[in-house]
Amino acid sequence: MAEIIGKATIKLERAGQPDKQVEMPILKGTTGPDAIDIRKLYGTADIFTHDPGFISTSSCESSITFIDGDKGILRHRGYDIKDLTENCNYLEVVYLLFYGELPNEKQKADFEHMMTRHTMVHEQLRNLYSGFPRRAHPMAILIGAVSSLSAFYHDSLDINDPKQRETASIRMVAKMPTLTAMAHKYSIGQPFIYPDNSLSFAENFLSMMFAVPAEKYKTSPILARAMDKLLILHADHEQNASTSTVRLASSSQANPFACIGAGISSLWGPAHGGANEAVIEMLKEIGTIDRIPEYIAKAKDKTSGFKLMGFGHRVYKNYDPRAAVIKKYCDEVLEEVGAKNSPMLKMAKELERIALQDEYFVSRKLFPNVDFYSGIIYEAMGIPTQIFTGLFAMARTAGWVAQWQEMYADPDHKIGRPRQVYTGVVERKVQPLGKR
Ligand code: ACO
Repeated sequence: MAEIIGKATIKLERAGQPDKQVEMPILKGTTGPDAIDIRKLYGTADIFTHDPGFISTSSCESSITFIDGDKGILRHRGYDIKDLTENCNYLEVVYLLFYGELPNEKQKADFEHMMTRHTMVHEQLRNLYSGFPRRAHPMAILIGAVSSLSAFYHDSLDINDPKQRETASIRMVAKMPTLTAMAHKYSIGQPFIYPDNSLSFAENFLSMMFAVPAEKYKTSPILARAMDKLLILHADHEQNASTSTVRLASSSQANPFACIGAGISSLWGPAHGGANEAVIEMLKEIGTIDRIPEYIAKAKDKTSGFKLMGFGHRVYKNYDPRAAVIKKYCDEVLEEVGAKNSPMLKMAKELERIALQDEYFVSRKLFPNVDFYSGIIYEAMGIPTQIFTGLFAMARTAGWVAQWQEMYADPDHKIGRPRQVYTGVVERKVQPLGKR
């Protein structure tokens, strides 16, 4: 729990109203900026705060993830992202996000066992997939499939029962790779591949993505390792747009599967998780290194509406720590697939080099974010661009679910209901049709 460490005095001087002074508690978490607790502001002073985009607003207390954007720090439950990526696998990190501690050997084995037992999806879901046009964007299919899970798993919909909440959480993390791979297989017209419980989480996903019934598929340990690390790097990122969407959707007590579907919808946007796909589209559009200056100039021109995809972040005003970790795996994967001299990677590195020296990007603290390199790794692995954001969603499901669980365990949680500053017509009467 955050503690009260002082008070903020807000002096209200409004035309036509007597001056008023209100005092609000200042909250301190364990680290990070303090926050003014304004919950009683409207009740005591009849005034709202106005913060579109939540630039200065904390929406909850959370003990899952800490980010210091200026220093480029990302920690889950106190562990640095680099430490976790180097020393744990994805499911250990999922356990950490869910339960607050890293698992011991037995807990790890039990958790992995439970996860693998939930990887299959209801057979009837195949019919849902086959209702979509083959050319549908796999994200559209994924949103539909995840939201539809509530129609299949009735025994984990009671959000007031902690056991059912846990079952729904395990189901979502375990089934996401299956549903994501199915969305991919459907879009390329290949048969769905069932999960294989003898494989690790990452290997199983790669197998469902790339295996075909006609041939034996062997996962490359290097690709599986990189996939596992990418999953860790995307597992949670505190109150970003999609996580806030999940929290807001579920604050109405909506069922968990529908809420994760809402989170995936938010993630799909190019300003958020859709950026990994947009980075590759952009690199393809640029085409050759000599055209980079033209695109840098375009990104700086406010009238162009163009932004350098994979650059900038609302919170990180320093190198995104996830991008720093990912670079290493990017080199390893490209070496493994024989694309060390990939023109795309060369172009990405050159773009980064130029942008990091350019006054426009330097002064605005625009650094490459996690999506700048993840797309290049996925591309090298042979994953089609359209499913990149699906992979992000698959990893982030752990964070969404952990945040959802945390919200429900908090006795203070309320339905989310922001207010507004109304600027429309105050009042008028409907005129008869002929007089409008
Ligand atoms: N290219 C060019 N200029 C940029 C970029 C960019 N990628 N990003 C920000 N800027 C400029 C803005 O135009 C603004 O300039 P100004 O101060 O002259 O008006 C300044 O930098 C500050 O940017 P904001 O838009 O205010 O930053 P905000 O926090 O609202 O946006 C965002 C962050 C959405 C990530 C933005 O940087 C962006 O669109 N980046 C490209 C998309 C992307 O890579 N998204 C992935 C985010 S990471 C993730 O979701 C995993």
